Amino acid sequence: MSVESKTTARNYSSMPVTIAEGKGSWVKDTDGKWYIDCLAGYSANNFGHLHPEIVEVAHHQLDTLTLTARAFMNDRLGAFTDAVSELTGKDLVLPMNGGAEAVETALKTARKWGELVKGIPEDRTEIITARNNFHGRTISIVSFSDDEDAYKNFGPKTPGFIPVEYGNVKELEATINENTAAVLMEPIQGEAGVIIPPDGYLQTVRELCTKHNVKLILDEIQSGFGRTGKTFASEHWNVNPDMYILGKALGGGIMPVSAVAANEDFLGVLKPGEHGSTYGGNPLAAAIGTKAVELIQRGEFQEKAKRYGEQLRERLSDMQNRNIGIVAFRSIGLWAGIDIDPSLKTGKQMCLDALQEGILIKDTHGSTVRISPPLNIGSMDLDVAMTRFEKALER
Ligand SMILES: Cc1ncc(COP(=O)(O)O)c(C=O)c1O
Repeated sequence: MSVESKTTARNYSSMPVTIAEGKGSWVKDTDGKWYIDCLAGYSANNFGHLHPEIVEVAHHQLDTLTLTARAFMNDRLGAFTDAVSELTGKDLVLPMNGGAEAVETALKTARKWGELVKGIPEDRTEIITARNNFHGRTISIVSFSDDEDAYKNFGPKTPGFIPVEYGNVKELEATINENTAAVLMEPIQGEAGVIIPPDGYLQTVRELCTKHNVKLILDEIQSGFGRTGKTFASEHWNVNPDMYILGKALGGGIMPVSAVAANEDFLGVLKPGEHGSTYGGNPLAAAIGTKAVELIQRGEFQEKAKRYGEQLRERLSDMQNRNIGIVAFRSIGLWAGIDIDPSLKTGKQMCLDALQEGILIKDTHGSTVRISPPLNIGSMDLDVAMTRFEKALER
């Protein structure tokens, strides 16, 4: 069965598998072969494919009302923003669709807050970002990417973003100045290969931001919603950002739902007409997002990520100790970045071999692959997945 049609633009180099069905942690291709999904839509499928409670809510909402646009109020939006507000402890929630849109929302809010509240002269606002970040694909976001594929030939870059080394507090402190409105970071860098910051780093970033009247914006789009064993990855270091950026699992693996959450003094700077999106906060998205928040509030997915995460770490340590091709790995909760011995194979080759063994994984870059199965994968399926991973390594 063909992978893609000639009409599909070539902005992805998809793996040679055409998926037609999904259930829990499993997906079936068009030839009827089942795979264990250890990418989970880059953490969008944290609750697994077709979680029955999310599907039920979606079906009901599909039969009731799906879109009004924000020109009018809809009866599902308030419950959604209340739920996200309660989850994050923030006063205000602004819903958008994809992750990059929510990041753009954060950047615009920071710029406006910088000028209006902090008193930064017009068009001089700076936002500090981290090197090796991944925050999405818009022109402004790729302007502070270090990945040549992401920014080359898409210039000119949007000015006003100052990258610093992730994990280096000295460089951060030296870079903050009176024009700095915000620091934008991932609490754990997912696409960079699940890079966990050194202990104390995020707390110091928080302290520096507070000291210099700079807003701390944490992009929890991939790291949040239970992935690391906590609701938000920043909780591992007891860091409370001024703004959370959420996406992926907020849409329950069903549709793009994203949001930013912050207090009145920050997000309150946006006034009617200054920002928005036709589909942002639509009733279908709001109903699904409310259910996703309800599921994560139960705490069961965080517990599972912790428990199965230990199992994942044990299996990876064992493989590393037996010198069968893992040079190093980093893991937290049910999330691992694994560096394959480059003399053995590339990350891409590892993913192709894994496909043959019946497990879906994806390389981040070079010889690094990432594992991020649905959080409710279950011990037995995780065991099968890791056995298949090992076989793929030895192929
Ligand atoms: C940390 C982070 N931020 C933002 C994004 C962009 O999200 P989207 O692809 O929904 O625009 C991603 C996607 O992988 C991400 O991992």
